[in-house]
Formats: sequence, C-alpha cells, structure tokens
Amino acid sequence: MRFDGKVVVVTGAGNGLGRTYALQLAERGARVVVNDLGGSTDGRGDDQAAASRVVEEIRAAGGEAVANFDSVATQAGGAAIVQTALDTWGRVDAVIANAGILRDRSFSKLSVEELDIILDVHLRGTYFTVQPAFNWMKDNGGGNIVVTASPSGLFGAFGQANYAAAKLGIVGMMRVMAIEGARAGIKINALAPTAATRLTATAGMSGEATEPRTPQEDPMSTERVSPLVLALAHETCPASGEIFNAGCGWINRVVVAVTEGVVLDDFSPEAVAGQWEAIRDTSALTVPADATTYWHMIQEKTGAQG
Ligand code: NAI
Repeated sequence: MRFDGKVVVVTGAGNGLGRTYALQLAERGARVVVNDLGGSTDGRGDDQAAASRVVEEIRAAGGEAVANFDSVATQAGGAAIVQTALDTWGRVDAVIANAGILRDRSFSKLSVEELDIILDVHLRGTYFTVQPAFNWMKDNGGGNIVVTASPSGLFGAFGQANYAAAKLGIVGMMRVMAIEGARAGIKINALAPTAATRLTATAGMSGEATEPRTPQEDPMSTERVSPLVLALAHETCPASGEIFNAGCGWINRVVVAVTEGVVLDDFSPEAVAGQWEAIRDTSALTVPADATTYWHMIQEKTGAQG
C-alpha cells in the first residue's frame, strides 16, 4: 500500500502511536506533517524536540516531513497545523487526529478544570484540526480522516469520565462528518487503539518498550495498531462512519446496535418493568446506519408516521 504524492497530517506524532503512524506513512511515500506540542502526558508544558526528532528520523530514512508545534486545543492551532500542509505541499489528503493526554480522576472528585482540559485537547482538538482539512477536502475531491476514540470511551473505565466523554463525543462528531462528507468523497472513521505508550504507563498499564522491539516480539507494540490506521488513511479504504478497535494485532469493528426490544400497547412503567428481559436481550441485534434509518425502523415497528 503506497502513499506516493499524498500529504498526511498526523497530530501528536512526536511520541507513541502517532510517531509510528508518521514513520510508516513516510516510509510508504507520504509527505507528513508531524504535529506535536511536546507536553507531558497530562498536558503540561511544551517542547519542540518531540516533533523535531520524528521529522529527523523520517528525513534520515529518505522520507519527506515537516514539523508543526501548535496545540490542537485551539482554533488557531488547528488551522495552523492544516495550513502547514497547504503551505508546504499545497494539499492535504489525509488527517490522523491522534494527539491526546490524560487527567484521570474518579467521577465524584472530577473537577471542572479536569473535564475542560480533556474536552479541549480531545474533542475540541479534533474539531479544530479536522474542520479546516474537511473543508479543503470538500472542495478538492475528498480525502481520508481517522479520529481517535478509546476502549475507555466505548466500554467505560474507572477514573476516566472526562476522557470517555471526550472520546465518545469524537465518535458522535465522526458519524455526522461521515454523513456530511460522503458526497464530497470524504471517508472518516474512528480508531480505538490499545498499545503500550507513555500514556498507558500513567494509567497503570505497561509503558513504552525501553528498547526497540519488533511487533513480533512485543504484543503491545504500536506497530500492531498502525496497519489498521494506514489502511483507514488510504484512498482504497471501503469504510466510512465506522468505529474500529486495534490492539495487540486484534482488529475488530465496534457497532452501536439496537435489540429487538418490545413495542408497548400498555403505556405504563409497569408494562416496561414486566418486560425488562426482552428489552435487554442482546441475542438479535440490528445496526442502524444513521438516525434516519433508525427512524424508519421505528416507523416499521410501530406504524408511526412522522
Ligand atoms: P503519547 O503520550 O505517547 O502520544 C500522544 C502525543 O500527543 C504526545 O506526543 C503529546 O505531546 C501529543 N499532544 C498532547 N496534547 C497535544 C496538543 N494539545 N497538541 C498537539 N499535540 C499534543 O500517547 P499515545 O498512547 O500514543 O496516544 C495517542 C492517542 O491514542 C491519544 O488520543 C490517546 O488518547 C489514544 N489512545 C491510546 C491508547 C493506548 O493504549 N495507548 C488507548 C486508547 C486511546
């Protein structure tokens, strides 16, 4: 799979997963904007060394890359990141919105500051970076966008209410962008990765390997996630509006599905209470493509007319 002639923006590409995506995209011919603010895992500080190092690595291997040090968490920063691609190479074919931090706290103790900074970097950061690229792609024949969710957002995880809210917010935004971008040839999907990085080290899981190890040797390697990301960022990607997990080499699709449920004829809470089992039974699931499809399902089930 080649990316010759393509321009790809990767945010948070100075470390961890983003670094791997940037290196592998460049290796396959992409010209890469390596964005990274270079802060700590909880979003404090900044350091140009992170993005600069990855750009040097790419160039040393004969690839093309340019660094950008802006924060995704401001509108001006997001615009500048995409503008770096346009100024340097005149186009943007794919964006991988990957930058992220953690501020874990149990919900009962979660402060508004801890909520805000996570929403700023992840949810608003995705909006700030992806919107200018989306608009350029709309006028220029389309493109591929990958946004970053998390198993914590999709399935829930202790101490991550702020992060989970941001990550599922990104999924909701992605689904609408997929609908609105379809006619312009924009494909956008969400990835929920699992890999050992400095970020997982702060969450009590194993951290980044201290010595370089191959993905064959290291089950938690970021290189067991990147194959999916490159396939999603490539123009041949068949999917849009979908959610995928990638971790340790296991790639799967996550769906939001509805159960068969029940149709009430007695509109009382007692009628609901008497049918919990049937309502919650997950043995027969349907995956609505979008809210309009779901509305058609309601009409079919109940005979309602809107
Ligand atoms: P990492 O800490 O190794 O890399 C994240 C990079 O984003 C860092 O280089 C950091 O400087 C950069 N960054 C942070 N805030 C930024 C900002 N405002 N502007 C620009 N750059 C910024 O972490 P990792 O694990 O590689 O995370 C990448 C993405 O994957 C994040 O969105 C994270 O939430 C997500 N993720 C990772 C999981 C894992 O198992 N590693 C699990 C689920 C989600």
